[in-house]
Amino acid sequence: MKITFYGHACFGIETGGYHLLVDPFITGNGQASHIDVDGIPADFILLTHGHGDHVLDAERIARRTGALIISNFEIVSWYGEKGLTNGHGMNHGGEFGFDFGRLKYVSAVHSSVLPDGTYGGNPGGFIIKAEGKNVYIAGDTALTMDMKLIGAYDRPHVAILPIGDNFTMGIRDAAICADFIQCNTIIGAHFDTFPPIKIDHEEAVRAFAEGGNELILMEIGETREF
Ligand code: NI
Ligand code: MN
Repeated sequence: MKITFYGHACFGIETGGYHLLVDPFITGNGQASHIDVDGIPADFILLTHGHGDHVLDAERIARRTGALIISNFEIVSWYGEKGLTNGHGMNHGGEFGFDFGRLKYVSAVHSSVLPDGTYGGNPGGFIIKAEGKNVYIAGDTALTMDMKLIGAYDRPHVAILPIGDNFTMGIRDAAICADFIQCNTIIGAHFDTFPPIKIDHEEAVRAFAEGGNELILMEIGETREF
């Protein structure tokens, strides 16, 4: 499977010929100005929660591609009222089979309100189960003991974790999370986009290496095979 970083918490995941797009926030991100939002492929758009830095470009991309919007029930209903009725609502602990594989919506400790003030349900993360591998996308979250359940039963091959601190886990807690979820390969997200979440890259990589784990900080627009 191929993972492309589009900046902030936005990733494209290509698996089995399908394109999954997570938390599109391109046009509001000055660091992603070289990314063409109208050129990003999407068959499925996965939204972890309702904050603008995760959903800003979802409507634009969904209208162009006709992608299925997958999120919690409240967020999918909100898009439905905008006429984007190709949606699939989930809630915490629930798993469902899609054309690309299975997807589980898991807990995150954060908040979730949509850009117009509408209640955005409770925030979450996803575990993608495809090609015999599990990919954990934590979404915006604190470190929680619940993550140990993922380590015990889902053992992700790769995990996308927020590391920017202030609004989510910082470097130290994310490094602990890597141990909780029993995952050695971590892709960093939710860092450097705004002043309060600027991080020291070398310090971050070192913190994970001390625990025997690899932290990958992808360039915006970069694609890697996992
Ligand atoms: Ni958020
Ligand atoms: Mn966020």
